[in-house]
Amino acid sequence: PQQPIIIQGPMPIEAENFAAKLENVEEEKSGNFLFYKGEVNDYPVIVMKTGKGMENTAAATAIAIEKFDPAAIINQGTSGGHDPDLNVYDIVLGKRTVNIGSLKTTHLEDGEGIAPKEWIPMDLMASEGSAGEDKDAENIRYFEGDEALLEAANAVKGTHEEGKIVEGTIGSADVWNNEVDRIQWFHENFGTSVEEMEGAAGAQIAKAYEVPYLGIRTLSNNKTNSGEYNPDTAAANQEYVYEVVKQYISTQ
Ligand code: 5AD
Repeated sequence: PQQPIIIQGPMPIEAENFAAKLENVEEEKSGNFLFYKGEVNDYPVIVMKTGKGMENTAAATAIAIEKFDPAAIINQGTSGGHDPDLNVYDIVLGKRTVNIGSLKTTHLEDGEGIAPKEWIPMDLMASEGSAGEDKDAENIRYFEGDEALLEAANAVKGTHEEGKIVEGTIGSADVWNNEVDRIQWFHENFGTSVEEMEGAAGAQIAKAYEVPYLGIRTLSNNKTNSGEYNPDTAAANQEYVYEVVKQYISTQ
């Protein structure tokens, strides 16, 4: 049998539109995770509602890989802009994904305060030793988006009429940043285009199993250019990802 393509969405508004496009759907539950197993153009496609956040996404990704042996995984949904050139309804293709919650603080003593701008990136994959002591771990770990998925995504760019589509860096953590100086600090130091709460967690697990993976994130908000939150972006993103999936299938 053909290996399925898996489409992940954290919230109901980020998964259900795509699930509704599948043919011959069967639902399956595992923990809090809901799998819609169906077809697009007679090709097996599974939409997963993962729930929000890094932990849900990591667990859901491992379970999906063990259960379904996917050919590829697309993690998609909404995000907040870190780049003032990106507007609500634009879409970022995750050429790279990075965990922006993986940080080591400086050494400060009792009463010396906290210094978030001095925190350094921490790469938990650098070694099997202590990330706190290991100098090799003072490094940003980027997960690369899969080339063939990126190619399919670029090929159907023109179908998204509500905004532009760019390749960029998706930053993830269980944090919603509303401090513009902090957002700019990530943009400058990690090169982030957008932030969300899932992409890097799925990327890390997909890499562990060597499953091709790509994050595709629309901006539902952008604090750096006063882009107001718009939940309708989630549906538009799924429309685009549906085109990406059809394109990817046509090249398989
Ligand atoms: N910061 C963090 N997460 C965001 N999301 C949308 N915008 C942002 C933002 N500015 C996404 C996350 C999570 C949910 C809260 O929405 O990925 O699933």
